[in-house]
Amino acid sequence: MRIGLVGAGKIGQLRARSIREDAAAELVAVYDLSDDLARRAAQGTGARVCRSLDELLDVPMDALVISTPVHVHDDACLQAFARGLHVLIEKPVANTIEGTRRLVDAALAAQRVLAVGFNLRYYPAMRFVRDAITEGRLGTINHFRIFGGHEGLPKFAHDWEFRAPTSGGGAMWDVGIHMSDLARYLLGEITEVYGIETQSVWNVPGSEDNAVAIFRNPEGVAAQYLATWNEWKGYHIYIEAYGDRGMARGAYAPMENLLITQERPGAPRQTTRLRYPWVQLREKLWSWQTTALLSFREELQDFIALTQGKSNVRIADGYAGLRAAEVAAAVRESTQRGHVVRLPALGRMHA
Ligand SMILES: NC(=O)c1ccc[n+]([C@@H]2O[C@H](COP(=O)([O-])OP(=O)(O)OC[C@H]3O[C@@H](n4cnc5c(N)ncnc54)[C@H](O)[C@@H]3O)[C@@H](O)[C@H]2O)c1
Repeated sequence: MRIGLVGAGKIGQLRARSIREDAAAELVAVYDLSDDLARRAAQGTGARVCRSLDELLDVPMDALVISTPVHVHDDACLQAFARGLHVLIEKPVANTIEGTRRLVDAALAAQRVLAVGFNLRYYPAMRFVRDAITEGRLGTINHFRIFGGHEGLPKFAHDWEFRAPTSGGGAMWDVGIHMSDLARYLLGEITEVYGIETQSVWNVPGSEDNAVAIFRNPEGVAAQYLATWNEWKGYHIYIEAYGDRGMARGAYAPMENLLITQERPGAPRQTTRLRYPWVQLREKLWSWQTTALLSFREELQDFIALTQGKSNVRIADGYAGLRAAEVAAAVRESTQRGHVVRLPALGRMHA
């Protein structure tokens, strides 16, 4: 697959590397406002370093990876679909629901793949939980607990990352957008949302620093959700699934799993803990970016597979990006009106 890259910053450099390292992919063009960054991303490949989006899109290619800030995603994405390219876009897809829908609709009209960089799906601790559920190890699932948080504004390098309306919103559009996606990935779909969000810690207008919510799927299974910018202990995420025959927890950072299984409620329990020492060592020696890079490699393989019509893949599609944004808007609406917000099931975007 011939791939172009727009946006060669922190994440774009990792995307470029994941493309360089994939034998089925070729990086053919890079564009960033910074020539230096574009050149660095293109290093070691025959990729053309471009001076504009038009120049980039004139290079023959099959797909575009968009790693620019969220408020400039749409121009590149719409032009890519207009030229018949597939797109892998960073989260959040756009900073409004309408903007996200526009990109989803453009992909559907062009009959091209829109995949979203919800790369936490590929973190070993998160896949472990999902696999424990699908393998039936937990019995019948009755609820999930989902958490994502960090210490807020000091984590951000740029205003566009946290300041609404550019960012879309606060914690639910940042670490929380990944957690909304994981919630939907585990629930199958989110069709009911009740929640309360607050802006009393960092006081950025339009950017919630806490969102406490309950999501439900069409079968009535609930997920308890919290996205926060005042997790003073540092960056942490976890997902937990509870069934009648056990529970599974996946957490990061550090990467960890806990699995408890039993024949039936009240029977003797078996406990397994996984601590991923090699991940912790690797991150200590280099950085968290090594873990992100591995997830990007697998995500890219799934992206290519999805464009080839394979549906048994972990990668998030445009509907996942849309529902994660809709859920953030639903928590805001629920906070203002005090009621449950109902959303129609979306299903899969690419059958
Ligand atoms: N999956 C994840 O865990 C994760 C983590 C962080 C960021 N992100 C997402 O990745 C994207 C990029 O974030 P980042 O942290 O790499 O930011 P960054 O600031 O490090 O990089 C963005 C790059 O885009 C370039 N750019 C800006 N406007 C442009 C334009 N119009 N055309 C071409 N290039 C342009 C900038 O020069 C910069 O090099 C965002 O959408 C962000 O939300 C995802």
